[in-house]
Amino acid sequence: MKKKLKYYFQKALKEKWALGHFNFSNLEILRAIITAAKRLKAPVIVGTSEGESKFFGLEQAVALTKIYREATGLPIFLNLDHGKSFEYIKRAIEAGYDAVQFDGSSLSLKENIRLTKEVVGYARKFGVLVEGEVGALGTESSKIYEKPFKIEEKNLTDPDQAEKFLKETKVDSLAVNIGTFHGVQASGGNPRIRLQRLKEIKNKAGDTPWVLHGGSGTSEKDIKAAIKLGVVKININTELRKAYTNSLRKVLKKRPKEVVPYKYLPEVEKAVQKVVEDKIQLFGSRNRS
Ligand code: G3H
Ligand code: ZN
Repeated sequence: MKKKLKYYFQKALKEKWALGHFNFSNLEILRAIITAAKRLKAPVIVGTSEGESKFFGLEQAVALTKIYREATGLPIFLNLDHGKSFEYIKRAIEAGYDAVQFDGSSLSLKENIRLTKEVVGYARKFGVLVEGEVGALGTESSKIYEKPFKIEEKNLTDPDQAEKFLKETKVDSLAVNIGTFHGVQASGGNPRIRLQRLKEIKNKAGDTPWVLHGGSGTSEKDIKAAIKLGVVKININTELRKAYTNSLRKVLKKRPKEVVPYKYLPEVEKAVQKVVEDKIQLFGSRNRS
């Protein structure tokens, strides 16, 4: 692989499309993402949170990403998602991750800036990209909300803070809270996101690779509008986990006597692959490798 993630961020920004960041915690989900990317010739970011990588293994995630990258010839990048501790982020960098997110969004702006700068300083020595976060999504991972989700105005990204953060930390990309959340509403589509807020952030802080977390359940219309405004990376997790778990339940119910994983897992993997392919089409990253 010759071209770096930074190249794809710039390309996406210029051509108005976004890279999908797909989380994985087991081999079947990772393989489903790779198969989808290969079929659609899309650059992708595969990601593990601290919890996911503790389950999967940091070194194992690096080794497998490398194997798939070489086997497909595709730009596949590995990211540590929502890194909260500097120690753990260092371990991911040393293991060979291509990018890390430092999520200091629950801290004061001053503390967030201070720690992000430390991460950037360390990551630069390894040529690893850093994503920061200003404005806390502050939501539970993969929660299915029975009642309509209520966006907390105070947690939305403040444009002045985003500008200050970017200037001082020099991160490569920035996650903003414009009304998305981790998880989905049980009823279906999530509430509209705050595109006006994204415009204000952009007007203040300029063109930067903006990142949208909590992409599951966000309407196609909002996703497309956010990409037009400069979002170049969209994180998806809950929809993949739902596809995986629901289809696993279904297939085991259909075949209660089956005990051979390689016989019932292909159907599960296909369900995840379908979600990834739909997102790649929606984000416009097809044929961009
Ligand atoms: O960091 C991961 C994402 O923000 C995923 O959000 O679970 O709502 O798709 P999601
Ligand atoms: Zn997230």
